[in-house]
Amino acid sequence: MTNKTLPAWEQADAGTHADDPRAVAFNAQYPARPIPATGPVITDTICATPSAGFDALWKAIEPETRTRANDVHLPVSTAYATRLCDAYPEADRELVLAAIILHDTGWAHVDEDRIISEGFSSNWRKATIRFEHEAEGCVVARRVLPELGYSEDFVEKVCEIIDGHDTRQVAYSLEDALVRDSDRLWRFDRAGIMASSSWFGMAISDYVDRLQREIIPELITDAAHQIATADLARAAALLRTEVIR
Ligand SMILES: [Fe+2]
Ligand SMILES: [Fe+2]
Repeated sequence: MTNKTLPAWEQADAGTHADDPRAVAFNAQYPARPIPATGPVITDTICATPSAGFDALWKAIEPETRTRANDVHLPVSTAYATRLCDAYPEADRELVLAAIILHDTGWAHVDEDRIISEGFSSNWRKATIRFEHEAEGCVVARRVLPELGYSEDFVEKVCEIIDGHDTRQVAYSLEDALVRDSDRLWRFDRAGIMASSSWFGMAISDYVDRLQREIIPELITDAAHQIATADLARAAALLRTEVIR
């Protein structure tokens, strides 16, 4: 299948959950899209700014990092989240980082055979397995966070972000928005391009085109837009996608 015959991904339905009071309140508080950064935005390769800390949490979810390249996806996404927290210092940094570290741990507790067959099919946004991995991720968060001393209130805030991080198309808070953008930004790094294009069964040039056309417009924050655009330009040049297509 070439890039000319490839059907577009199913569009995200921004209307779903848009009437939720949390979504309405968030939109009222942050009406501009993309949301302008209030702190510094670093658009260097993500390798230049790894995340740090949260060692006990990483140790606690080590078994969950062994599924679906989570041992790459989670730390790379966490590095992006750290940058976004610097760009939006008004956000609750601890909440954003705990949520992004935990957000996909549920993949380790669903039927592995269905991850690719359903989770990356043409209607991947609504695949049942995606709802399951969100629910299972909340189970992991409720298991590991209290043991590390986090309050019940904090754990529930983390779960509110994990629940719907893939299947809900609107953000409920700035922290939710930063987690959602970090989760998407990993796709723009070389590692994310490599993994995601293979999971979707797509040529690199087709995948890079889709990032530009379909994923950049989904990013909520301006910092994420800037980072994604810079990453994509670097990746396209490095991978010679204008020629190899
Ligand atoms: Fe996910
Ligand atoms: Fe993810």
